[in-house]
Amino acid sequence: MIANRVTPPMSALTASSSPYAVAPTIPSRSPARTAPPSAAARSGLVRIVAADCTGGIFPGAAEASAFPGSRSASDAAGGAPTTRHPGRCRRRHAATTIGSSPRNCRLVGTYGPETLRRAGRSTMGIDRHVALTEADYLRLLIHGTTAFELVRTSLELEIFEHLESSGGMDAARLAATIGIQAQPARVMLLGLCALRLVEKCGDTYGNTAMARRKLLRSSPRFLGALVDVQAKVINRALPDLAESVRRGTNVGLRHLPGPGTTLYERLTAHPELQQVFYANMGDASRKAFAQLLERYDFSTVRHAVDVGGGDGTNAIELARRYRHLTVTVFDQESVTRLAADRIEDPDLRRRVRFHAGDILADPLPDGADAVFVFHIFEIWSRKRNTELLRKCRAALPEGGICLIYNFVSDDAGTGSMSAGLVSPYFLTLASGEGMAYSAADMEQAALDAGFSHVERYEDMGFSHALVVGRR
Ligand SMILES: C[S@@+](CC[C@H](N)C(=O)[O-])C[C@H]1O[C@@H](n2cnc3c(N)ncnc32)[C@H](O)[C@@H]1O
Repeated sequence: MIANRVTPPMSALTASSSPYAVAPTIPSRSPARTAPPSAAARSGLVRIVAADCTGGIFPGAAEASAFPGSRSASDAAGGAPTTRHPGRCRRRHAATTIGSSPRNCRLVGTYGPETLRRAGRSTMGIDRHVALTEADYLRLLIHGTTAFELVRTSLELEIFEHLESSGGMDAARLAATIGIQAQPARVMLLGLCALRLVEKCGDTYGNTAMARRKLLRSSPRFLGALVDVQAKVINRALPDLAESVRRGTNVGLRHLPGPGTTLYERLTAHPELQQVFYANMGDASRKAFAQLLERYDFSTVRHAVDVGGGDGTNAIELARRYRHLTVTVFDQESVTRLAADRIEDPDLRRRVRFHAGDILADPLPDGADAVFVFHIFEIWSRKRNTELLRKCRAALPEGGICLIYNFVSDDAGTGSMSAGLVSPYFLTLASGEGMAYSAADMEQAALDAGFSHVERYEDMGFSHALVVGRR
């Protein structure tokens, strides 16, 4: 990547939209300020920059990667495929006539590296790869706690927000703005630059495109809730991974005193942590469920039971979209209260109902023609999941459907990164028996539970897969 370094025209550094427009090394009234994004920037081959800059934020390239040689998303928008890719949502089994139609399962606008490679385009900056040496990759593994704390502390001190709202600033000004000494400010900025979340031009620091996309509160992809739950709930348990592996149970739960043998039960004794947990769960589910809503047609469903429906995020979104539909959220008592408190709209209050109980031990509420098992499969062993699905099937009328929707690992059991990194949490803390299963595991469990027709949809985005079992 670094081989592509060339010095861009000044126009690429001086637009007023750039956080670096105020950088003292850059003439503020250069005629080039008003120039459109340079041809060099548009070509996608050119980045960086004067020797004192570690990266570049360029006019018209709000999504530009911070990294030398990378291409911006605006470059991508000019030439990347913009058509839909229905074929990307792979259907493994023939559909029957009941419930929603598979034609509604479509993948919209995914530009995977493969698509781009086939189109003969560079993937740098589009598939958002970060290139690291092996030594630095290993450093990230071994100093992972430090990297996490740099990110978490920056969020706590609102460093990304300050850098953004000021249009970039030097270390002394940042220190004064957040009320810390100069030396700790340098330590933080050095760490954030090394992690490629902040970049420096002259004496001025600014957010990289990656930080803007994921670490600013105003971004739809803001990861703050995830960082929060990691810090307050998950990280304290993970040092017990080794003992959990040895004993085959969630030893890390000992850090959270209370009733029950799962994290979900224990959280009922810690309302403030329960809030933190559902802030992240709701955030993640909203993003994942939005894509299911786009791809699956729920119009023939009259009444769905959302098993382990959590804070009601999915139920509320579904009931908002389909005005004829009733959803019953089946979850622990304190969770259903939390969910009920979120709903103000009288129509939604009427159509989103709650059923408190134990999803494993208690029967499902009556009258559903669809059952949702969203982000539940990951919690339990294969055996317990099959039993739960059998119970779901028994609660359905002939022709009723059960939707199992989850993030998944690949069928080979070798990835993704997110599947590999989230699974130890289920073992160490959540339940002691779950993991990110493959879509094939979900499909097999639905078959074992007795569903007569089972369909599997992969490549749903966010590493999710959908299995639909029809009674
Ligand atoms: C990972 S969250 C998923 C929430 C929701 N389905 C979603 O996709 O956002 C798991 C949910 O299952 C619920 N749960 C787990 N075990 C349960 C049990 N035995 N009885 C009732 N609810 C349970 C938890 O309270 C929690 O809300």
